Amino acid sequence: MNIPVWVNGELIDPAQATVSVFDHGLMVGDGVFETIKIVNGRSFALTRHLDRLRLSARRMDLPEPDIEAIADGVARCLEAAPAWELGRIRITYTSGPGPLGSDRGDQGTTSIVIVDEQKPFPATASVAVVPWPRNERGALAGVKSTSYGDNAKALLHAKKRGAGEAIFGNLAGRLCEGTGSNIFVVLDGRLVTPTLESGCLAGVTRALVLEWCGGEEADVPLSALYEAEEAFLTSTTRDVQPIGLVDDTELPAAPGPVTTKAMRVFAERSAGDLDP
Ligand SMILES: Cc1ncc(COP(=O)(O)O)c(C=O)c1O
Repeated sequence: MNIPVWVNGELIDPAQATVSVFDHGLMVGDGVFETIKIVNGRSFALTRHLDRLRLSARRMDLPEPDIEAIADGVARCLEAAPAWELGRIRITYTSGPGPLGSDRGDQGTTSIVIVDEQKPFPATASVAVVPWPRNERGALAGVKSTSYGDNAKALLHAKKRGAGEAIFGNLAGRLCEGTGSNIFVVLDGRLVTPTLESGCLAGVTRALVLEWCGGEEADVPLSALYEAEEAFLTSTTRDVQPIGLVDDTELPAAPGPVTTKAMRVFAERSAGDLDP
């Protein structure tokens, strides 16, 4: 079954959907994106994700996206898709067709919505720390831009080592985030996640965990991850996923008591409100 996709206001068969080969999203990664969870055919936390899309676009100095039109695109794609128990919505917004270099074009932006089913993540994660730092001082630090080449390379590095996610430190040698996830650690009984100044993305799941389950934002050395009593990843598609193994170091418990509580509270609160 071909699930329609939405491109610049039109719902179309994916086989018929086209984007210009001059699109700057494709040519130089000049765009932003969002991934939103589908639960039983409905979106989760859509307002927060659309707010972040707007913010990412501003941070990249892109023209303001038409959020109302994109939200309509999301609704139309969901209507046309099966009511998957678990799925994902992908929104991509780029500066549109442009010249062959880094200058932007003026032919209008490109907006795309795609929906698909999602397989649940494994019950626990193994992670591999990668040797390349996040640049917390870079122009795109914390921006969900389509320039994800370093994440693609890092995730491949982790997968080659049998891990499911790669973890970045930053230039200051502190813990930062995963390629598609934020990270929480339990140190001396305290639940801690890196600050936004660490260069990590302001994850929607991270924010909800902080609100619902507590925890503090604090920067810790990357090495603290190996010494954590517990650790977990958060992301739209994972919710709260315990970490069992960091490189060759097995953590004492996965999930330990703090993670177990976070998983339970997150499941309860998210089931009670689809757009928190
Ligand atoms: C680099 C990065 N960090 C963190 C996250 C987690 O953010 P969220 O909870 O909003 O999915 C993502 C999401 O895919 C990401 O790409």
